[in-house]
Amino acid sequence: MTDEPGWARPAVVVGLALLAVGLWTGALGGPAEKRDAAPLDPKSYSTDTVRKVRKSMTFDGAPCQSCHEGKEALQGDPREKGIFHEAIKLQHGRNQHCFNCHHRLQPADFSNFDGAPIKLADVQLLCARCHGTTYRDWQQGSHGRRTGSWDSAKASKNTVCIACHEPHWPVFKPLQAAPPPQVNPHGGEQGGHH
Ligand code: HEC
Ligand code: HEC
Ligand code: HEC
Ligand code: HEC
Repeated sequence: MTDEPGWARPAVVVGLALLAVGLWTGALGGPAEKRDAAPLDPKSYSTDTVRKVRKSMTFDGAPCQSCHEGKEALQGDPREKGIFHEAIKLQHGRNQHCFNCHHRLQPADFSNFDGAPIKLADVQLLCARCHGTTYRDWQQGSHGRRTGSWDSAKASKNTVCIACHEPHWPVFKPLQAAPPPQVNPHGGEQGGHH
């Protein structure tokens, strides 16, 4: 402190002031002008799932129970579609039986190993019966799609199997890729010109 020459402090102050002016005017290569990124074209992304998941089990607008009263178990050949359900093309590998999945007494529900009903809201438990490893991967987030927080302590949600796979013909069909987003780090305009 005491050995300091008299001109040292004013020199530092002047130097800092020059530096500040230099940065402010950009003369010293200060931060580039900040511009907002162009908004993404909605054509480039979608948050929709491949299929829309139904909320209730209806056929042609009518609840299953309106025709299948559940008083007695459906007795039909498990491969029969029933006169109203001809449109269902069952292409699920060797899984060709309606009642492998649908409950015989309550066809609006699904059937577990022991015959206990599985509700539509828990339909992944039906798939898990035969696709155990995929189900495990899905639970852990490596199959399908998880949304929400990356932090496992916070809430996240797994997209249900039938939002991607149609249960009667579940092989995933190729999708058309969306156009790439026009992200140009150098400018606010799409397609950039620098
Ligand atoms: C408009 C009436 C109607 C509605 C609604 C209806 N079904 Fe059916 N369903 C039939 C008829 C008729 C058959 C063939 C006769 C039979 O076996 O009972 C049939 C057959 C079936 C079969 C084949 C089993 C068999 O015995 O042939 C399944 C599985 C089935 N229905 C599931 C459903 C499910 C699931 C729903 C609701 C999403 C539903 N049905 C809604 C009329 C209906
Ligand atoms: C792999 C399991 C599986 C098999 C096998 C299966 N279903 Fe389904 N079915 C489902 C699931 C899950 C739903 C409800 C979810 C959905 O429609 O997206 C459904 C929905 C339905 C519906 C209501 C929707 C629609 O498409 O009309 C009817 C009717 C139906 N099934 C009848 C049948 C009949 C008849 C058979 C046999 C020929 C059959 N299902 C075989 C799993 C199955
Ligand atoms: C009763 C057993 C059974 C149930 C229940 C079942 N599956 Fe399957 N699944 C099969 C069989 C068997 C195959 C054919 C495997 C093969 O051909 O290698 C198959 C094939 C598939 C495939 C195509 C696999 C491939 O290699 O291309 C998908 C996807 C699939 N299932 C999804 C589902 C979903 C989603 C559900 C629940 C709605 C479901 N499965 C319920 C037995 C089942
Ligand atoms: C976000 C969409 C999505 C969800 C949710 C999803 N899948 Fe898939 N799944 C796919 C795609 C895409 C493929 C095809 C991968 C390929 O062709 O290589 C696939 C493939 C499969 C296969 C074929 C074999 C394999 O593992 O690659 C099975 C079986 C299957 N899924 C079952 C399920 C089951 C069971 C669930 C729910 C527990 C589920 N999937 C949830 C998108 C999904």
